[in-house]
Amino acid sequence: MSEHAFPTAAATQRKEPGVGRLVVVGLGLIGGSFAKGVRERGLCREVVGVDLDPHTRELAVAQGVVDRCEEDLAVACRGAQVIQLAVPILAMEKLLGVLAGLALGDAVITDVGSSKGYVLQAARRAFAGRPLNFVPGHPIAGSERSGVAAADSELFLHHKVILTPVQESEPQALALVDGLWRGLGAVVERMAVERHDEVLAATSHLPHLLAFGLVDSLAKRNENLEIFRYAAGGFRDFTRIAGSDPVMWRDIFLANREAVLRTLDVFRSDLDALRAAVDAGDGHQLLGVFTRARVAREHFSKILARRAYVDAMHDNDLIYLALPGGHARGHIRVPGDKSISHRSIMLGSLAEGTTEVEGFLEGEDALATIQAFRDMGVVIEGPHHGRVTVHGVGLHGLKAPPGPLYLGNSGTSMRLLSGLLAAQPFDTVLTGDASLSKRPMNRVAKPLREMGAEIEAGPEGRPPLTIKGGRRLTGMHYQMPMASAQVKSCLLLAGLYAGGETSVSEPAPTRDHTERMLRGFGYPVKVEGSKVTVESGHKLQATQIEVPADISSATFFLVAATIAEDSELLLEHVGINPTRTGSIEILKLMGADITLENPREVGGEPVADIRVRSARLQGIEIPLDLVPLAIDEFPVLFVAAACAEGRTVLRGAEELRVKESDRIQVMADGLRALGVKAEPTPDGIAIEGGPIGGGEIYSHGDHRIAMSFSIASLRASAPIRIHDCANVATSFPNFIALAKHVGIRVDEEGVS
Ligand code: S3P
Repeated sequence: MSEHAFPTAAATQRKEPGVGRLVVVGLGLIGGSFAKGVRERGLCREVVGVDLDPHTRELAVAQGVVDRCEEDLAVACRGAQVIQLAVPILAMEKLLGVLAGLALGDAVITDVGSSKGYVLQAARRAFAGRPLNFVPGHPIAGSERSGVAAADSELFLHHKVILTPVQESEPQALALVDGLWRGLGAVVERMAVERHDEVLAATSHLPHLLAFGLVDSLAKRNENLEIFRYAAGGFRDFTRIAGSDPVMWRDIFLANREAVLRTLDVFRSDLDALRAAVDAGDGHQLLGVFTRARVAREHFSKILARRAYVDAMHDNDLIYLALPGGHARGHIRVPGDKSISHRSIMLGSLAEGTTEVEGFLEGEDALATIQAFRDMGVVIEGPHHGRVTVHGVGLHGLKAPPGPLYLGNSGTSMRLLSGLLAAQPFDTVLTGDASLSKRPMNRVAKPLREMGAEIEAGPEGRPPLTIKGGRRLTGMHYQMPMASAQVKSCLLLAGLYAGGETSVSEPAPTRDHTERMLRGFGYPVKVEGSKVTVESGHKLQATQIEVPADISSATFFLVAATIAEDSELLLEHVGINPTRTGSIEILKLMGADITLENPREVGGEPVADIRVRSARLQGIEIPLDLVPLAIDEFPVLFVAAACAEGRTVLRGAEELRVKESDRIQVMADGLRALGVKAEPTPDGIAIEGGPIGGGEIYSHGDHRIAMSFSIASLRASAPIRIHDCANVATSFPNFIALAKHVGIRVDEEGVS
């Protein structure tokens, strides 16, 4: 387990404290906890407490919260280096007035008040014309308990503390206060005063007002409180905070009046809209609000869960431990196709009527697409066990999103959406995670600009993308320089809006789901050899979509059952669109035993059950024409190559260098770490089959790298530890469960 990022009590006690005398004024829960924590960790030479209540002063000394207490503020502040104000917010003004009359020398004043604008104004009024060295602060921590008796030196551990530096905050003073909070284990963030007050008004003050208000409203109409006997968990959860300290909350509302009123007014108009929807029997409107709220709430729970996880582990490296000796037997269905899932939401949203989707991939990438369309006003129910209902708004029904569209790790979402958004009447900003932010977007921005779009990208054409609305696009013919289904699809989506015809030619066949699905939605698409053409002026009609299992996910198991001894797997209902089956053909050329059973067509896509048995593989030269048809499957095909007899050579695959990671380099590094001979080239790799050892692998946050090395364990002589696996959830959320189910010995480290 890694070291704490902040000094532990033992570590800091050995060092000479960086701060001389700290004075804490107000020894309640927050002031007392601050004093106690600083004292226990030896962050200051002396901690002096000030409180009006003699009993509190006595208790604070007796319980080791402070070194000594003073009744008189002037005496306490003599020689102070830092003065922490932790009195109730409405008492700040008077306290600051007294402090302004004292000779404080260079002392730094800081505070813990929950409305920064109020305290700042009070300080400026009190110190008018006199020097003020002030660092406003606010710890986001608390407890149902109060008073010095509840002081807890760990109260701020891993909690956020917001500092709102102002012109009166000298840099050294800021660093000093920042250091004290970090010394207590807090996560310090900086914010402007106004932003702090807005954020707190929305996330803390408004909910308290609603909880107090709702309980009172119900209670005063039901004097004997009989009604609460029927209240269930929902009421209890919603109103828990109505049990908070009334005086403190009265003061907070008086102090943060402006910001609270602004957020309350916005909420009142949203509440009125809900009222109107109930009144009008507008279920669609209600569903829109509830589905968006549910997703936002789930997102919030995930943030909290991740924080708990980070707290426990001190970093967020999810590690897979894959042990040798497994096999792959049985029958499974891997999750739905990622490409088709994305498109089902995009086209379903633009269609007229309600589209029902089955088999939807509930991975983070496809969920990012759902969220983007929800942000643009589309009501989308689910996903629930792979079922999604999209209430289409028509080609011209999208609304401006309230903020940037965050697309996580998903290149497909960003590239396809950019085509669609270039033609909308509103502006949009597209952002993503660290990996997506490094991926090239000029491949879509450049041709879109030629069609008349206005798109700004970051340096070297990287995200974020800022797309200006209200542009008239003109259809054109585009000869793609690379074989990319994302670029093709992006331009076809723009073509739904562009004047005249838009056509795209590809240098080699790429997945054709966009073309097939547009037709499935009743939109005419012309395909002539390698050229695809659409024309604006038609409509999409809602339809039913059954998403087949993703061949990209299935390929991990095709390789698993091939390389492991005594293995046989049946993979059910896998999409075998000929633009996607390169991995099956490559594996067969290497000698794999793969048969397609029960081939059928479902919703315009060919589907089959795939049987695979253990086989001895031979190294091959991978035919160039198969490269775009297996583009996502190469990481695990490299594992197959490492298990084959002889040399496997891949060329013409430079696109692999700009996927979620540089898949040529990252796979070469990983294979070499396991003792496999792998030579990367600019556009491919040469791999010499041979024994596979154990070792540490870095997936660089790339889901397919993480899963590939999990499969490699089937032929490894020692355990493989794979770092940075959280992104497996982007495309294959139940990978570990399915892998274990068939007999592969892989799990999250520390789980079993
Ligand atoms: C995809 C196209 C491919 C593929 C990606 C999904 C799509 O990308 O790698 O995972 O859904 O259109 P490129 O178009 O960049 O090859």
